[in-house]
Amino acid sequence: MSRDRISALEQLLKQRRSCRRFDDHPLSVGNLERLLFAAQGSTHSDGKRTAPSAHALYPLKTFVIARRIEGLEPGLYETGAIYEATWQRLHGIRSGTLLSASLADDTWLEDSPAVIVVAADRQIAIDHFADQQPDGLRGVRYIDFEAGAVIQNLHLSATEQELGSVVVMGYDDDIMQTALRLPTPFRSIALFCVGHPAARR
Ligand SMILES: Cc1cc2nc3c(=O)[nH]c(=O)nc-3n(C[C@H](O)[C@H](O)[C@H](O)COP(=O)(O)O)c2cc1C
Repeated sequence: MSRDRISALEQLLKQRRSCRRFDDHPLSVGNLERLLFAAQGSTHSDGKRTAPSAHALYPLKTFVIARRIEGLEPGLYETGAIYEATWQRLHGIRSGTLLSASLADDTWLEDSPAVIVVAADRQIAIDHFADQQPDGLRGVRYIDFEAGAVIQNLHLSATEQELGSVVVMGYDDDIMQTALRLPTPFRSIALFCVGHPAARR
């Protein structure tokens, strides 16, 4: 089937590409709010969000590591739902700690102006879906699946904003948990590095 025109979504899907080199320009809070809306934004008064969730349980939560964000002190932030526009700084992240958890020397973990951490409360999902598969695997499978939907939403929002981005999952979970010091019970599933792409040479 051939068509003359492609839709805006198809254009974004064609353009999306992982980017691992960023320039020095800071991101705006507006950039981040659009990304976070795509990731887990509330889209209905019943609490439903941009990305699907099994039984509408929503075991995922996003955090932001700010490095070069206009108006934000560097550090790890917990973010409220988009309409609340609340940013609570939890603590600083020491330079080099994310890279120390990388399995592949992913320097973009340290270079990118922002890293969005997709984290999960694994136990709530394991317990909730224990009747489907009592060994806990069902809940864990759903969490990984839901994180994938969130990451693709983030990629498409970044592409639309002409930002560069890459998802990083190749890291030691325990070392990363120590580096991030996420509030209990959250553990990271994936890190999304984002910023203005460095000009191609
Ligand atoms: C589950 C998953 C894990 C990934 N982990 C990493 C990673 O640890 N480091 C990295 O640089 N890229 C990582 N990537 C990005 C892939 O390398 C990238 O998507 C792939 O090379 C295809 O290129 P494209 O995204 O430009 O289409 C990951 C992608 C996926 C889907």
